[in-house]
Amino acid sequence: MVKERKLIIAGNWKMNKTVAEALDLVNGLKRELAAVKEVDIVVCPPFTALSEVSKVVLDSNIRLGAQDMSQHIGGAYTGEIAAGMLKEFSVRYVILGHSERRQFNGETDALVATKAAAALGASLKPIICVGELLHQRESGQTEAVIEAQLEGSLKGLTKGQLEESIIAYEPVWAIGTGKVATPQQAQEVHAYIRRRLAIMFDESTARHVRIQYGGSVKSSNARELMSQPDVDGALVGGASLEVRGFSDIVKNSI
Ligand code: 13P
Repeated sequence: MVKERKLIIAGNWKMNKTVAEALDLVNGLKRELAAVKEVDIVVCPPFTALSEVSKVVLDSNIRLGAQDMSQHIGGAYTGEIAAGMLKEFSVRYVILGHSERRQFNGETDALVATKAAAALGASLKPIICVGELLHQRESGQTEAVIEAQLEGSLKGLTKGQLEESIIAYEPVWAIGTGKVATPQQAQEVHAYIRRRLAIMFDESTARHVRIQYGGSVKSSNARELMSQPDVDGALVGGASLEVRGFSDIVKNSI
C-alpha cells in the first residue's frame, strides 16, 4: 500500500545510553538502514549524546531529534536546554509533551504549546505527544481527552506551522507495558485526531500532518500498525534501544 504521507519512524531512547553506548547503537543503525529511502528515520538520544551522535549521522539517512527543550530562548533557567543549543548539533526534531514529562515534570498543554512555538521559531519540527490514561479509556473519555490536549498543545499555531509539526498518539497505558493498541484502536484515534485537526485548522492541513503511533511498538506489530490509513509512523521507546529491534521496525514498516 502506498501511503499519501511519508512514514516517520523515530526512536525515543529516553534516559538510556552513555555516549559510548549511543555511538554503538547509531553506528549499527547506520549500517543496517543505509539503503532505506522510503521512511524518515529519526533517533532521539539523551542530550549528553547529541554531540557525538550528530557527527555519526551527518552523512547518513538518519536524522537527529531531542527529547525535550525549553520554551525560553536562553538566560537564567538552570538545567534547561534551548532550541538554539540543539541546532548546534543539527537537531531537526524535538519531542514535546511526552506523557512522562507530563506525569513526572508536571508539563501542561499550555507549556507544550509555548515550547512548540519556540521549536518552530527555531525551525525545529516538534513531535507533539497526546494520549489517554487507562482509566480515561475505560470510562469512554479517550476522545474528550485527546480533543483537550490538541486544543491546548496546538494553541496559537498557524496552519503552516502545523504542517511542519508531527503529532504522536501515545496511549499512556501502552507505553512500556507491552500492551500495544490494536491496529483498529490506533486507527480510530488517529482518524479522530485528523478530524479534529481539520476542524481546528482545515482539511488540507489535516491531511498533510503526520500522525505517529507510540506505545509498545515492536518489529512484530509494526507492519500492521503502519498499514492503517491514518498511521503515518511510529515513536518507539524500548525497542529502539538495540540495533535489531529498531531496524526491523523500520524495515517492516516499508
Ligand atoms: P515503548 O515503545 O517503550 O512503549 O515507549 C513508547 C514511547 O514512550 C515512545 O516515546
